[in-house]
Amino acid sequence: MRNDILNIKNCKRIAVMGGTFDPIHYGHLVAAETVRQELDIDKVIFIPTGRPPHKINSRLASDEHRYLMTVLAVVTNPHFDVSRTEIDRPGTTYTIDTIRELRKKCSDDTELFFITGADAINQILTWKDPEVLLKLCHFVAVTRPDSSTVKFTENVKYYKEKFGADITMLEIPALAISSTDIRKRVFENKTIKYLLPESVEQYIINNSLYTDDTGKKTYNTDLINKKLRHALTEQRYLHTQGVAEMAVRLAGIYNEDKDKARVAALLHDCAKCIENDESLRLCREYGVPLDEVLLAQPDLCHSFLGEKVAENDYDISDKDILSAIKYHTTGHAAMTMLEKIIFIADYIEFGRKNFDGLEETRNTAYEDIDKAVYMCLKQTIDFNRKKGRLIHFLSLEALNYYSNIIEKGDKT
Ligand SMILES: [Fe+2]
Ligand SMILES: [Fe+2]
Repeated sequence: MRNDILNIKNCKRIAVMGGTFDPIHYGHLVAAETVRQELDIDKVIFIPTGRPPHKINSRLASDEHRYLMTVLAVVTNPHFDVSRTEIDRPGTTYTIDTIRELRKKCSDDTELFFITGADAINQILTWKDPEVLLKLCHFVAVTRPDSSTVKFTENVKYYKEKFGADITMLEIPALAISSTDIRKRVFENKTIKYLLPESVEQYIINNSLYTDDTGKKTYNTDLINKKLRHALTEQRYLHTQGVAEMAVRLAGIYNEDKDKARVAALLHDCAKCIENDESLRLCREYGVPLDEVLLAQPDLCHSFLGEKVAENDYDISDKDILSAIKYHTTGHAAMTMLEKIIFIADYIEFGRKNFDGLEETRNTAYEDIDKAVYMCLKQTIDFNRKKGRLIHFLSLEALNYYSNIIEKGDKT
């Protein structure tokens, strides 16, 4: 363990917890903690296994990611530690080599334990030097409650008689959590909260682990639509689908990410069907600043609140998508391309009832997006003024900004 600074001095009972930890989750942690307490272990050392480089693809995390996730997961437990020994060892990794290395670092009277699954125990004769391994350390087989133990019990008896092995079995309900399932959930953009420590969840998000081959996040639009059907009226739901179609079309024209455009469009009105009183209450709860225009016209809140709802109820963390939702009603000066796309798509989607200037704005949108933004702003502000409504300062700033751009042809 040349690269490790393990604190195992004075430890008389040390357990090794091996695994790919791709990613580490509460099942592993609960198993390790249970073994520690039941068998009076001083230190549990988590050892992420090495993996041949050719086995790495974007659906699996690299050695370094797995090591760092394990470090994050165990940092709060003074009885846990992580070793790099297997990921730093060149060539094929064998448990016997790891245990021998560890043995050299401990005093003679230190007892070693190896924690593994019951399935692995059944396979142990296929490992390198199994008879030596079974003598060098005690084995602890952790199982989930529903697994069959018939074969395991037979094997344990055989290993005891033949090699003098010492094997304990412990049932760990939390082992129903699986790394495979967590990877699948991330890939399908489903929540992984409460399956693993928050720090590991954040690490996975920040590093775009377990996404598709390009490392790009994929969105589960089926699930988004299912939720939207409950949150919106039928009419609003259909409008949302129309905005999504238009947003993807505009994203194609202006080289914007089509997946992001679709998701932002689907969610742009996610808070639209919340009653005014509830909407104001939620704004206060989420800390959305309520200015006098929003207080006087609470229906305008839905875009600012929509950002928070998308983040909290639909698990959207992408800043571009969130800001496109946030500003889809007011707009603002110097909008991003995605913000402009959602702002315009909302206005010109094919489900909109025809009104003066709609067709012209639609055609402009396909050719000059800034001019189309200006047209949308101008028409909306004029319409609202006629109705005696207050105009939000962000819209006025945007109108000023885009009118200057159009007049001066200054698109910096
Ligand atoms: Fe809206
Ligand atoms: Fe809308």
